[in-house]
Amino acid sequence: MTELQQLGKTFPRGSLFLFFLLGLACLWLPATSRRAPRPPPCPPSCSCTRDTAFCVDSKSIPKNLARDVISLTLINAAFSEIKEGAFAHLPFLQFLLLNSNKFSLIGDNAFMGLMHLQYLFIENNDIQSLSKNTFRGLKSLTHLSLAHNNLQTLPRDILKPLDILSDLDLRGNSFTCDCKIKWLVEWMESSNTTVPSVFCGSSPQYQGQKIRDLPLKDFDCITTDFVVHQVLPFQSVSAEPFVYASDLYVALAQPSSSSCTILKWDYVERKLRDFDRIPAHSAVYCKPIVAESQLYVVVAQLFGGSYIYRWDTNIDKFIKIQDIDSQKIRKPNDIEAFTIEGEWFFVIADSSKAGSTSLYRWNQNGFYSHQDLHSWHRDTDVEYVEIDGKPRLIISSSSQVPIIYQWNRSQKQFVHLGDVAEVMDVQMVKHFRIKRDNYLCLSRYIGDSKVVKWEGLRFTELQTLPSRGSMVMEPFRVSQHQYMALGSDFSFTHIYLWDEEKQKFVKFQELSVQAPRAFHPVPLEGMDILLAPSFKGNTLVYKHIVVDLSL
Ligand SMILES: *[C@@H]1O[C@H](CO)[C@@H](O)[C@H](O)[C@H]1NC(C)=O
Ligand SMILES: *[C@@H]1O[C@H](CO)[C@@H](O)[C@H](O)[C@H]1NC(C)=O
Repeated sequence: MTELQQLGKTFPRGSLFLFFLLGLACLWLPATSRRAPRPPPCPPSCSCTRDTAFCVDSKSIPKNLARDVISLTLINAAFSEIKEGAFAHLPFLQFLLLNSNKFSLIGDNAFMGLMHLQYLFIENNDIQSLSKNTFRGLKSLTHLSLAHNNLQTLPRDILKPLDILSDLDLRGNSFTCDCKIKWLVEWMESSNTTVPSVFCGSSPQYQGQKIRDLPLKDFDCITTDFVVHQVLPFQSVSAEPFVYASDLYVALAQPSSSSCTILKWDYVERKLRDFDRIPAHSAVYCKPIVAESQLYVVVAQLFGGSYIYRWDTNIDKFIKIQDIDSQKIRKPNDIEAFTIEGEWFFVIADSSKAGSTSLYRWNQNGFYSHQDLHSWHRDTDVEYVEIDGKPRLIISSSSQVPIIYQWNRSQKQFVHLGDVAEVMDVQMVKHFRIKRDNYLCLSRYIGDSKVVKWEGLRFTELQTLPSRGSMVMEPFRVSQHQYMALGSDFSFTHIYLWDEEKQKFVKFQELSVQAPRAFHPVPLEGMDILLAPSFKGNTLVYKHIVVDLSL
């Protein structure tokens, strides 16, 4: 009776099931008293009737049994694994009891072929995990017990094949109550299956709580990730996406292959492909500008001067249309392009001792020198921002703190407005906006990098981030998340995520890009792509993905 008692405990309301067992016993008694025509096949470890087999200490799943056995009990078996299709030779099984064994592994499709199985008990074993395909094919199963195992979670969809399950027992397992269990709670709420209370085990937050009562709305199960989408097998030092004639392109400065490389986005393959090359033997920046439907590329070189090219639609080629004054632009470092009152401008930051950061203005068929902004300061970067509707330039330098210029409409010139912050030796300055607030990221190669906030007429320091060998600190926005990438020439790049509550960036993810030089999101519909040019390794194209941890 111990087996019956145990089953009675498992399913207090399982009177139907008791009748079933008694029925089996009744069949068995007259069968033995009658003169059986031929005893059913039965392995030495089992005792059998015409319909049932009861096996103890088996070394494997008993093979030599009548094909039409409807009830099999296997206890104290001397093996620990149930393999795929282990019972396929007993297609008429309705009752399978595997309690009190040492089963730790149950393979995918372990019960394949058991179309008529109604009762499956695998209690008091050592099962730690199951795959979602474990119970595939059990169309008739009404009772399932996995009580008293070592389960910490159950894979989503594991119960899906069980169309008519009425009783499920998971007691005596120590479930981890995290996002992975969310589906089970939802399933318990929506299904008509009776499930005796199960409690959370090893989760600090919910230990001892009933799984069915977990506050699902407190489960934060959505997270994001950057994964490598495409590896471009070359080094590059700048990467600028642009849209021209409804197609998406990227311009990359590739000093190692002496060119500005233009790649085109292939919407079918969802990859960047070769498009064209502009010769540039020491390219440091390739800046595409689409003005009045014409495509220009400003090619800045470390040696041999800088040039402007135009895409000639008659011959489908880039042609050089003008030189950039090599007296002023000696060692270009960065180019920014923007419009003020509908007019196109670009500005080149010059990092030589004798050069000067200069502004150029577009006029009908080319760009003309408009203003020398900042001489003799070895400028490292320039950023265009509009704050309170006023166009401004922020310039960082090796020899002084970052400074701000403001556009004067009547003079049509930028005029010096003041300093940004008492931070010397800034390598890169980048702007970002959250709601109506303006912020700057100031990266430094030596010393800590900073995030500062524009308040009133000044930027005040918000956050200091340890950085070493940082050439880039780039804020960027992808699908409503404000991120910031802090690159390093010596170790990993850290991606930070803006924390609205804390009003600062918090560490989010590490990326392995060797000596990154930028992190640029690409304006693509339906896909979030990030370009990461690398000075020392492959240029990487990352994809931003949303991950639901409850799946
Ligand atoms: C649960 O039972 C009700 C009433 O019998 C039925 O309408 C409903 O569809 C069942 N739900 C599921 C998920 O089977
Ligand atoms: C712009 O320049 C003009 C002429 O120098 C000056 O009078 C005016 O105040 C300036 N405007 C601003 C907003 O600085």
